[in-house]
Amino acid sequence: MNAAEIATLRELMEYEAARTEPPRGFPVLPDLPGGRYTDPRFFVLELQHVFRKSWLLAGHVDEVPEPGCFRLWERAGQPVVIVHGDDGAIRAFYNTCSHRGAPIVTDEAGRRPRLTCRYHGWSYALDGRLLAIRDPQDFRGLDFSCRGLAQVRCERFGNLIFVNFDADAPTLVEWLGPIAQEWEEFRFDQCRLAARHVFDLKCNWKIAMEANTEVYHVRSIHPKTVAPILDDRRNVNTLYRNGHGRMVAPTPPGANERMTMRAAAGTPQIESVGEIARTCTQSYGIFPNWVSPLSPYVLPPLIFWPNGIDACRLETWTFAPDWGDAPKPDLWTVNDGEQLAQVLIEDTEFGNWIQKSVRSYGFRGVPLSYQEARIYHWNQWADRMIGIDNIPPELRVAQVIGDEWIYPNDPRIDEMRGAAAQQRR
Ligand code: FES
Ligand SMILES: [Fe+2]
Repeated sequence: MNAAEIATLRELMEYEAARTEPPRGFPVLPDLPGGRYTDPRFFVLELQHVFRKSWLLAGHVDEVPEPGCFRLWERAGQPVVIVHGDDGAIRAFYNTCSHRGAPIVTDEAGRRPRLTCRYHGWSYALDGRLLAIRDPQDFRGLDFSCRGLAQVRCERFGNLIFVNFDADAPTLVEWLGPIAQEWEEFRFDQCRLAARHVFDLKCNWKIAMEANTEVYHVRSIHPKTVAPILDDRRNVNTLYRNGHGRMVAPTPPGANERMTMRAAAGTPQIESVGEIARTCTQSYGIFPNWVSPLSPYVLPPLIFWPNGIDACRLETWTFAPDWGDAPKPDLWTVNDGEQLAQVLIEDTEFGNWIQKSVRSYGFRGVPLSYQEARIYHWNQWADRMIGIDNIPPELRVAQVIGDEWIYPNDPRIDEMRGAAAQQRR
């Protein structure tokens, strides 16, 4: 983030603290239909479009560090194997033999010189080419060149491995847009995988994720954990193309150091991290299912996966600069995944209650405030990705947040500078 961007963010924080109503021109947000959390039709559309066409965090190079290392990955409901090739490239394939669909690997992870199906012994190179089959004389005209493993798009952002099931999707960097550049200071190319755990929750995956997509809840459910270190009235939300969002809220003066991520991490600093991440809570929502605060000490994404319409899996990751002989940092859990850290216990506390509510006869819809605009923005983009005409009318959200609110556009800047100029007159 350059000096001008930092200065604008600081100005916007004061603007947010001073405003007495939503920004001029910001639309009224129509209620989100409750059926988006309960209707099986919407759930199928999410899987078919949102999860099929988005870039999804699937791994870290530390999980497949050497040529021949592989790892099974089925979190998105598709059988995928991630493989480190002889050429150093990391690829993803459907874990599906081109003969009759038996798995290529059945172990969670391992290392092999080639990938051999145990059903009838077809064997594949680490880049997916079909190398050899048993009794080739019994096939007539089998073209090896089109019987390799079916590939899944796989790209890296630094040491992070993302996959995408859509051959026509933009590249990962295009998908991230300006965020790719904003993230350069965090040196994802140097982070190591410190912790990764999974927790099952009894609510729709969006209910769990939305608890981490606004600061409106902070003073109510985090009075002792987050509220003392986050000035929610100075929070600045930014909306990006492709449904991504960012929040930046300053740490109040005199906040207790012991409660910050520095204390939780105990790892060396990422030297290149700039002023905003050092003095604020800076958190990103990457469409569709990533929420992560980013700090000079840890890069800890929370990833939310559907597990049926009324259940989900919360995957907690901690990436950090090399911690040497110190204990591995793990921002989100206690005793290496035994239970969620206090702040996430608070964030997940109401999930199953809310799921019951959205199913109830009495639920009318979700009225969102300006503070919760990132949730609405996410839903708008989800509908665009699904194709608005594919969605039953009663389950759609109206496209009310116009492009004028999408970064780098920001009508708040004109409003606050106009007001400042007027005051000077
Ligand atoms: S299914 Fe793999 S070799 Fe037959
Ligand atoms: Fe929270």
